[in-house]
Amino acid sequence: MLEQLDQIEKDALAALETVKDSAALSAWKSAHIGRSSPLSVFLGDLGKLPAEERPQAGKRGNEIKRALESAFGTREASLQASELERSLQSDKLDISLPGRPAKRGRLHPSSQVLRKIYSVWADMGFQIYRSRNVESDEYNFTLLNIPPHHPARDMWDTFYTTDPKVLLRTHTSPGQIHAMREFAPEPVRVILPGMCFRYEQITARSEIQFHQVEGLAVGPGITFANLKATLSDFARRMWGENVGARFRADHFPFTEPSLELDIECFVCGGKGCPVCKYGGWLEILGAGMVHPTVLRNGGYDPKVFSGFAFGMGPERISMLRHGIEDIRNFWANDLRFLEQF
Ligand code: DAH
Repeated sequence: MLEQLDQIEKDALAALETVKDSAALSAWKSAHIGRSSPLSVFLGDLGKLPAEERPQAGKRGNEIKRALESAFGTREASLQASELERSLQSDKLDISLPGRPAKRGRLHPSSQVLRKIYSVWADMGFQIYRSRNVESDEYNFTLLNIPPHHPARDMWDTFYTTDPKVLLRTHTSPGQIHAMREFAPEPVRVILPGMCFRYEQITARSEIQFHQVEGLAVGPGITFANLKATLSDFARRMWGENVGARFRADHFPFTEPSLELDIECFVCGGKGCPVCKYGGWLEILGAGMVHPTVLRNGGYDPKVFSGFAFGMGPERISMLRHGIEDIRNFWANDLRFLEQF
């Protein structure tokens, strides 16, 4: 009986010697230590042996089982090492091959102009003030001197929510009220960038959402001359030292007097071309002296304080700069467009 066991062990170890790869090793494993291997069958049949032989046979059988398992482990490790060695030799990794180039991202064209605008105003001492996209009717219109039913509201139709007093802002101007109410009676000098929304037919020239950058300066003794000087300086910093700028009278309910700033067409230098529609000038922003009612709504006494405000559309500026003919490109997410900037 013990001889039979010795034979099982000897056969198994001899067979293990001939194992050359992992497939053969797993075949060996099931043949010699698997559930139907001679050793397992022997151990399973222990009960059939005469009682006096059982302890010794069991002890020896289990010794052999442990010995075979450990021989298996050793063989497995050495086979893995030699297989790794072989694959390192045969499948050499050529680390001098150029890698796959990572695709480089870039900023959206709107972010590019926005950052340029931020940096120009930052240099001039204007801080960024963020305000909400969802506004109340009161902030978007009434506090900006556009009372309910005033015809000026027709210029800015928007998206209303189920609460008629809550809407998507049509311009960044309501941020002026938030900023003034936060800082009054201290002076303010801020720009208010952000997304605006309008209920419009979407065409090459108008979108239902777009950015604006609003500006506001309030303090004692700010004059119309300060407004003109500041906007002229902005135009020079943005479009170059020699850019021509002109102011045209206009009307906005929240400023008095109001104006529009045009700059000399940077494509043709003012001679006339398709970008400026042969007029030589490009319309850049609306501005004016903050209306006394708006100052009061912001918490300032208009007898002591005055200020100016302006609002511009970065997408429009970007379209003029790059000759983009269709505003819908900005939110269409078409890489063929975006990759050009
Ligand atoms: N909110 C105006 C618009 O959306 C733009 C604007 C004009 C803003 C004059 C101003 C301003 O602050 O003074 O058309």
